[in-house]
Amino acid sequence: MDDAIGKSWSGRNQDRHEDLRDLIERIDQMGELERVEGADWNLEMGTLAEMVCQDSAAGRAPALLFEKIEGFPDGFRVLAGAANSMRRLAYILGFDEPRNSLDVVQACRDRLRTDFELIPPEEQDGGPVFDNIDRDDEVDLYKFPIPFIHEGDGGRYIGTDDMVITRDPEEDWINAATYRVMVQNKNTCGIWMSPGKHGRLIREKYFAKGEPCPVVICFGQDPLLFLAAHNEIDWGTNEMHYAGGHRGFPFETVKSEIHGLPIPARAEIAIEGEIYGDELMPEGPFGEFMGYYASDRSDEPSIKVRRVYYRNDPIMCLANPARPPNNFTYARSAMKAAMIWDEVEKAGLPGVQGVWCHEAGAGRLFNVIAIKQLYPGHVSQAGMLAANCHAGNYAGRWVTVVDEDIDPTDLYDVIWAMSTRCDPPSDIDFIRRAWSTPLDPLLQGPPYENNRAIVDACRPWGWKDDFPAVAQATPELKAKMREKFAGLFDRI
Ligand SMILES: Cc1cc2nc3c(=O)[nH]c(=O)nc-3n(C[C@H](O)[C@H](O)[C@H](O)COP(=O)(O)O)c2cc1C
Repeated sequence: MDDAIGKSWSGRNQDRHEDLRDLIERIDQMGELERVEGADWNLEMGTLAEMVCQDSAAGRAPALLFEKIEGFPDGFRVLAGAANSMRRLAYILGFDEPRNSLDVVQACRDRLRTDFELIPPEEQDGGPVFDNIDRDDEVDLYKFPIPFIHEGDGGRYIGTDDMVITRDPEEDWINAATYRVMVQNKNTCGIWMSPGKHGRLIREKYFAKGEPCPVVICFGQDPLLFLAAHNEIDWGTNEMHYAGGHRGFPFETVKSEIHGLPIPARAEIAIEGEIYGDELMPEGPFGEFMGYYASDRSDEPSIKVRRVYYRNDPIMCLANPARPPNNFTYARSAMKAAMIWDEVEKAGLPGVQGVWCHEAGAGRLFNVIAIKQLYPGHVSQAGMLAANCHAGNYAGRWVTVVDEDIDPTDLYDVIWAMSTRCDPPSDIDFIRRAWSTPLDPLLQGPPYENNRAIVDACRPWGWKDDFPAVAQATPELKAKMREKFAGLFDRI
């Protein structure tokens, strides 16, 4: 692995953004914001969000700010991909400008390991999200430029880059998570939650008592909140506390009018109501993160919306799951990699040199962990832990373990290791019947469990020191050549 990768970079940047609006200004100053005027909610915003990611180099796609959206007041805007570049993600997490992706992962894992603490929000009496409140009959979700995202979708999705806030009725804690939300009519939405997701387990507790589940959903918020909401944070942990931990100071919240649920005070748009388990409406299909319309239209619980809170000139956020890369996969790859690294270490694994969740695997399905082998069985332990820790478990498929000279973010390096250090019949293990989802295109019905491979692409432990030497010029020799023939390297 290149000496620069993953070593000695952990700069903490104290210059923090206040909220999404402030962040947009800063992204603009960084030169990573593209303003798009006149796009239509019907397919245009979604398709542009998809194309910009697919046409950009990894970790370098700009954020898109849709302005003057056809048929809506000028101030109503939509932002896509706020955190989805290496520089933006580092800035949002409060790190200095990184040299490479593994810098961001390592800085994030260093924070989680050393000075991370959950920081609960500070409750306030009021905040910008209460600039406007539509109550009961006034509710009309179509006042917002809700996108129709992919050609094969079953409806318009107001919730993609969102945060669904519920309270566990027995254990009294708040969960905040990203689940897709489709508009059914002006005051009703459908919501889709995969089996095992915390919000789903919570709503089942209400449904079991014959009650609807109180809910608040934000559709525009600080990307730190979105990052926490769409990563697998532990059961019982409020994602707003977790996001506060990364922010370094508390988020501000206000209490929702009906159910007293916390809403980020500087959120752009939030709705409040209840999820009804006995009032099902057709939901989906929806283009999903593995790159397919993998689950059909189905009858799902519906949300009756009784309040809409929004700032003046609100900014809705849009995530576009589709064939990867998507406008959230880079950020998820880096966060998830840091979380896996942290979790496997906390489970006792030594010698980890780096982790990366590849965007081609939608940030979940093809993960690589690099270790410095220290004892027999170390590789297998690394692979099993990376596949089974909470951050790495849901909807995984491949975990590849590589030696410390392989950069886990570099597919070329990883494929070279798989091609030359892995003997398929003896070096690939399987995990069967693991936690997956109806969105997995290989699964045709319940119980939605899938199988995984753990690939040992390391030099065999028993004779690793006798493994043939790598045929490549040494760093010292390369440095000499760079110095002596500098002109050549300036030109190539
Ligand atoms: C853009 C986007 C959309 C998502 N949509 C859904 C969804 O509709 N249903 C779902 O179960 N998970 C969805 N997820 C994944 C969850 O947000 C993620 O697994 C999260 O950890 C769930 O939170 P929980 O652990 O509190 O349940 C989505 C993630 C992203 C990035």
